[in-house]
Amino acid sequence: MPTVNIVEVGRVVVPQPEDLVVRLSALDAPWVANPLIQRVLLFVDDAGGQQHPPFESLVASLRASLAATLARLPPLAGRVVFLRSTGDAAIDCSGPEGGGGVRFVVAESDDADARRLAGDADHDVGAFEALVPELKVDALPAEVLAVQVTRLKGGVAVGVALHHAVVDGRSVWMFLQAWAASCRSDDAAAVATVTFDRAVVAIPGGEELARSTLRKYAPNLPLAANLFPRAPIKLPRRTFTVTAKHIHQLKQCMSGQTTSGKPATAPMSSSFVAIAALAWASFVRSKHPAAIAAWHDVYVFFFIDCRGRPGIDPPVSENYFGTCITGCLVKAMARDLLAVDGVAAAAAAIQREVRRAAEDPLGLWDWMDIVSWVPLDRLVGINGSTRFKAYEVADFGWGAPSRTELVTMTDGRVVLVATKSGGVQVSVCMHPDHSTAFNSHFIDSLC
Ligand SMILES: *[C@@H]1O[C@H](CO)[C@@H](O)[C@H](O)[C@H]1NC(C)=O
Repeated sequence: MPTVNIVEVGRVVVPQPEDLVVRLSALDAPWVANPLIQRVLLFVDDAGGQQHPPFESLVASLRASLAATLARLPPLAGRVVFLRSTGDAAIDCSGPEGGGGVRFVVAESDDADARRLAGDADHDVGAFEALVPELKVDALPAEVLAVQVTRLKGGVAVGVALHHAVVDGRSVWMFLQAWAASCRSDDAAAVATVTFDRAVVAIPGGEELARSTLRKYAPNLPLAANLFPRAPIKLPRRTFTVTAKHIHQLKQCMSGQTTSGKPATAPMSSSFVAIAALAWASFVRSKHPAAIAAWHDVYVFFFIDCRGRPGIDPPVSENYFGTCITGCLVKAMARDLLAVDGVAAAAAAIQREVRRAAEDPLGLWDWMDIVSWVPLDRLVGINGSTRFKAYEVADFGWGAPSRTELVTMTDGRVVLVATKSGGVQVSVCMHPDHSTAFNSHFIDSLC
């Protein structure tokens, strides 16, 4: 494993609006007990024909543009705090607890090879973990954002860690987009108008629901025990690139006939449905018969972005900066996914639930509760979105990243972002007992 040395730990402190305390909504609250998002972006020297600035000046411009971005996104420079008198949790952007700013770590490695890290389908998990900062989240007040910039052999890594009660995936990309635009002095793109006022998430139950949700998942505040501890071993992870052509073919297969003669799905299933179906069927096939029997119920879980949807009245703005996602759980009989037309059957089941969730996005607002009853070894969880334009938006002035990955992944997890060219990057974390079988099922079904 490459050696990464911390050179400097600094802070980016910005003047914060006075007395800005944002109470968490019921959609933010569960994340106090499951807070960590870590993502790495790898930039390889000369990858897009563009030369990086020297490391010192690159660090200086990342730091200055981060300060400018935080001034527009004050919750990121705050702290998640516990308000003992009312039992609420909130983002304190300015008070004595909240004014600490953002930890900014500078590091270097002589042997972490940017080109290899960016190119390998199989992740070097240890190296990726060394390129992202930790976040102090075990007790409130909790940090919201930390950044690490690492000089690599032949490139640079930008690692971020964010608190999930303050941002969802959509907000992470809003932040990275604004930061990157500010860093390359693209002022037009940098000025994103966002709203982070939790009051716009008008869900029935309001503040009382937020409070009871917090009590349910974090009963020992200010201690916030992590409900999803990390696996004791480093699980293998692999990234697949599903091209636009693959997606087109997959959709065609799925809209074909099933063995029962009925059309499997509506002719126009989305890229998300196609890929989720493929991942789910591959997961079930790779665990059959050792861990999943034909008569078992199997599950796939993913999140629904509630912005702009009916069901929350008035609808939450597309520019809402916070956590605005609810769950969607799909169940099937393993036998149906093991059949020849298993991917089409998976797609049909997913499509049905996506439609239902679009009509009633709050149906599974308390998604974390499923952990208490769903057999986790028969569940695939999907994070991210085929719509996250990860590679397009994260150009800090020296070209798009060559690679970006979520570092926080657990067994049975699939993470999606859009590729540069209309495809989807699918990163998968599977236990070594099943990963080889998963990989071959996934690749076989693509061709
Ligand atoms: C991914 O989704 C799972 C639920 O399936 C959640 O526990 C986890 O925190 C999510 N990870 C990120 C980084 O959002």
